[in-house]
Amino acid sequence: MTSRARLAAAGQEHLADRLERLDGEARARLQAEIDALDLDLIGRLVGELVGDGAPPHEGAIEPPDPDGLVALPRDDGDVVRDARAREAGEELLRSGAMAAVLLAGGQGTRLGFEGPKGLFPFAPITGRVLFEHHAAKIAAVRKRYGAALPWYILTSPQNDAVTREAFREAGWYGLPPESVRFVVQGTLPAVDRATGRILLEAPDRLALSPNGHGGLLSALRDAGALDEMAREGVRTMFTFQVDNPLVRVCRPELLGHHFLGAADMSSVVVRKVGPEEKMGVIARVDGRTGVVEYSDLSPEMAAERDDRGELVLWAGSIAVHCVDVAFARRLTDGGLQLPYHRAVKKVPYVAEDGAPVEPDAPNAVKFETFLFDALPAAERTVTVEAAREDEFSPIKNAEGADSPATARRDLNRLYARWLADAGVMVPRDAAGEPVDLEIDPRRALDPHELAASLPPGFTVDGPTVIGPPG
Ligand code: UTP
Repeated sequence: MTSRARLAAAGQEHLADRLERLDGEARARLQAEIDALDLDLIGRLVGELVGDGAPPHEGAIEPPDPDGLVALPRDDGDVVRDARAREAGEELLRSGAMAAVLLAGGQGTRLGFEGPKGLFPFAPITGRVLFEHHAAKIAAVRKRYGAALPWYILTSPQNDAVTREAFREAGWYGLPPESVRFVVQGTLPAVDRATGRILLEAPDRLALSPNGHGGLLSALRDAGALDEMAREGVRTMFTFQVDNPLVRVCRPELLGHHFLGAADMSSVVVRKVGPEEKMGVIARVDGRTGVVEYSDLSPEMAAERDDRGELVLWAGSIAVHCVDVAFARRLTDGGLQLPYHRAVKKVPYVAEDGAPVEPDAPNAVKFETFLFDALPAAERTVTVEAAREDEFSPIKNAEGADSPATARRDLNRLYARWLADAGVMVPRDAAGEPVDLEIDPRRALDPHELAASLPPGFTVDGPTVIGPPG
């Protein structure tokens, strides 16, 4: 049991005072949460990241290494290069060497949706939720390649039970239940921004939140999932985020470039739309591949342009990666220590007198690790450029940029392009935007599959759902 002296030494004596004011179950509950804390780690993080925060990065930040960069195809040679990668990626899928890993442990605070973001009804006509959409992609990839493709889903203690229950209620969205595997990540307490004292969300509960998507690797190890993958012959994980409905799950070209490049970890990038876009960039940091968060780039550095007028740090990460299982095992066996970042957030808490407080300005610091911080530990990395309009439109905010409205717009545009390729014209609204469209991934994962699956004379006269086959 953590003693008062131990708490005092860690600058957290207020927790001992709080315990003394509780009894029975409430006291036992708070005591258990306190006992589970890593006070040494928290002390270190408060020292480094509370107050002024970490000093800005001072080393060299350069564009991604041209060796290991796969740009969008520009000539016939590039088309042959991608065809070769596609074949290799398809073989990886067919041979059972891939697993899909969905990051869904976040709290989605910016979206402000009650419940896991995966249950957000993003689809414009059917109101289908993100989990169902991703599940349909997994099913489609499995069917197309006869792939086992086990699907791991990272949850957090904050949303694990609701997520599992939703999958159970939905019949695992048509997937065999044993092929959908949940892994729970760890948590860390939020601390007061001014004092570094751990906040409580209730008199008998700490304000705990998920420890960032970098928590994936240790969560996989602790749950025995990395061993399970190795046993089942999985060599590479395709990792993606819950909030990007355009994500191309296990796109064979990406898998192939990762494999042929003998990479430990690979990333997908798109060109940033401008210096202000809030997107981390893949770059060479002190000579190694890494991601620099937009908040860590000075405005001058973010805006720097080359002779052709292109942004020097152009390679925006869309948080899609391939991670080799052997690399993840090496990292986690070696006592993985990803760097912690600070996130300054509004965190409701109870004051000394037990009264609940809803702050109207950011009052707290949360500590998080990021999956992309494993990149610098990789011997080799591959960075694959993708067309934004084909692969990326995340749902982060309730309104404005990166919101449900922009994701629906981008999906409508994508599907309208696919239909146009198949010779089907789509009506537009007054602003020139296509009508609402939904295409089930099991019907088509790309325009070729769509063209092949449409009956002769197929037309679109208004909002249209093109459902699964059969
Ligand atoms: P974000 O960093 O965008 O966070 O997560 P979020 O939780 O979705 O939203 P905000 O910042 O609270 O508004 C990107 C992806 O990483 C996952 C999320 O579920 C999302 O798919 N994630 C994030 C985790 O799995 N665990 C975490 O601790 C944080």
